[in-house]
Amino acid sequence: MAKGAPRFVCAECGAATAKWSGRCDACGAWNSISEEVSLASGPAGKTLGATRGRRATLTDLSTTEPEIPRTLSGISELDRVLGGGLAPASAILVGGDPGIGKSTLLLQAAAAFAMAGAPAIYVSGEESAAQIRMRANRLGLTDAPLRLAAETNLRDIITTLEAEKPALVIIDSIQTMWADHVDSAPGSVSQVRAAAHELVTFAKRRGVAVILVGHVTKEGQIAGPRVVEHMVDTVLYFEGERGHQFRVLRAVKNRFGPADEIGVFEMTGAGLAEVANPSALFLSERDNPASGSVVFAGIEGTRPILVEVQALVAPSALGTPRRTVVGWDGGRLATVLAVLESRCGIGFGGQDVYLNVAGGLRISEPAADLAVAAALVSARQDIALPADTVVFGEISLSGALRPIAQADARLREAAKLGFAHAWAPARLKTQGDAGIAIRQVADLNAFLQKCFGEID
Ligand code: TYD
Ligand code: MG
Repeated sequence: MAKGAPRFVCAECGAATAKWSGRCDACGAWNSISEEVSLASGPAGKTLGATRGRRATLTDLSTTEPEIPRTLSGISELDRVLGGGLAPASAILVGGDPGIGKSTLLLQAAAAFAMAGAPAIYVSGEESAAQIRMRANRLGLTDAPLRLAAETNLRDIITTLEAEKPALVIIDSIQTMWADHVDSAPGSVSQVRAAAHELVTFAKRRGVAVILVGHVTKEGQIAGPRVVEHMVDTVLYFEGERGHQFRVLRAVKNRFGPADEIGVFEMTGAGLAEVANPSALFLSERDNPASGSVVFAGIEGTRPILVEVQALVAPSALGTPRRTVVGWDGGRLATVLAVLESRCGIGFGGQDVYLNVAGGLRISEPAADLAVAAALVSARQDIALPADTVVFGEISLSGALRPIAQADARLREAAKLGFAHAWAPARLKTQGDAGIAIRQVADLNAFLQKCFGEID
């Protein structure tokens, strides 16, 4: 491609083409291609040539490295999601919808790390230093030894960081950063990629932990190319439903700890507060057992969490009945409805179906299938399950129930919160000492029969 010639880049996969098209040939995404001026990193397609490089040092696997010293913020929900505190020389991306509380979380985190002995600098490209000070004041953090900069020029930021030598840098947000060697607007694919690359390289070179804030597009992806996710060590998503005060910090990738770990916070008037016992919180809105409400014993990361699954089934006035899901996967709901229809003869044709995970939590485990099926049938038949019952199990397309992992942790959490009965798949491996009565069923038909009796 000639230098200076127009170049089109896909925001989803980062693929470059010579001309615009509505659909990316590389990844199939629609409307993701926009024009970019070519990157300063040199013309694409040029090879290394014949010049010899330096020989890389090879080691073997038995080399023992000293354990990486981690810094704990003291915010234990955050430390756990990071995989046991902040690792030096790590690059972390925190994504989330605008307004969800990323700046609040990271200001609190930066102040906590600064007080724990890791000198921290908070760079904001979105707010003035005065605005951040006002927020710090509201959060009661004015005494924290945290330094602020309202700056967007990447060259100035790197120069400042080289001189100041902090242990932690927060960049809020990566979309506002401007690298002057790249000739396109801040927030564009090449700017985001170049800025992320510079900052990640800086983190590795100087042993500094860098946290990048990234706004998420409507489709739930971090704006800009997915390559930013590949560049960093850890990708965290800060999620929550508007109108709910609960916020979940979720590790979707972590080179320094387990992925899928979550931390639960509550947005209060004085910032984010940790929620040490999320099950109690997610169930707290549950009053007398109503039909359509079922408690699911789930696992998020390493932690058992009890949530209420709510279903409503109502006659539909529409030709194609409505299927509305909040907090679970719509495709998975369609599967459960199809299994109920063809394996158990329980139809939902002509009925609108609404499914909701209470409290604004998003669950993705297949183990929730049985709880969803129970909620749907409970709503359809208007029969409530006893209030002291939890349900979990994966439903296969044949209608059989599959055993699932970490049953003991689920059962213990349920027993701890006062539940006395659990419906679970047959062949489940448990130690049986959880202090809760387990009723095991081999397939969905047997479960519905025992739970709801004859269904027409
Ligand atoms: P913010 O951290 O600015 O979100 P983001 O950086 O993800 O865009 O959070 C903004 C919201 O949080 C705003 O709607 C107000 C609310 N909030 C509180 O409820 N309590 C607080 O103490 C603070 C600082 C913010
Ligand atoms: Mg913000």
